[in-house]
Amino acid sequence: MQIKDEIDKQEKSGEPAGTVFEPKIVAFCCHYCAYAAADLAGSMRIQYPANVRIIRTPCTGRLEVGYFLKAFENGADGVLVAGCLEGGCHFQEGNLLAKKRVNYTRKLLEEIGVEEDRLRMVNVSAAEARPLADNIIDMVKTIRKLGPNPLKG
Ligand code: FES
Repeated sequence: MQIKDEIDKQEKSGEPAGTVFEPKIVAFCCHYCAYAAADLAGSMRIQYPANVRIIRTPCTGRLEVGYFLKAFENGADGVLVAGCLEGGCHFQEGNLLAKKRVNYTRKLLEEIGVEEDRLRMVNVSAAEARPLADNIIDMVKTIRKLGPNPLKG
């Protein structure tokens, strides 16, 4: 329903059909919570934009700065890192480590002229399908405003 509302808004904005920028977003989702939440969203028929490509990772703590940069280098317009709630990581502090790496990478991105808002971290539990979908929708909106990744050829 929400996606339909978004599309309706675009149509009312006067943009000709097919001219709205559709960003490519890579979402690194930890297996235990975020991936399970995305799966639950599917089971509950909660829709989120098809702009997102989900990559399952054992824990967000496994993700290194190079992974985020590589995603941008390979054409992603945005990168979402979705892990367990703080205090709920199945590997104790993996999500806290990921948070530090995401914040560090955001600074790096700013230094090379890429908007830091293209990289975001969210924390959800396995039951939070709706908040995850809302975060994805919000991320798509943000990236649409920012436009294509300037690192793209
Ligand atoms: Fe989910 Fe570590 S297991 S963030």
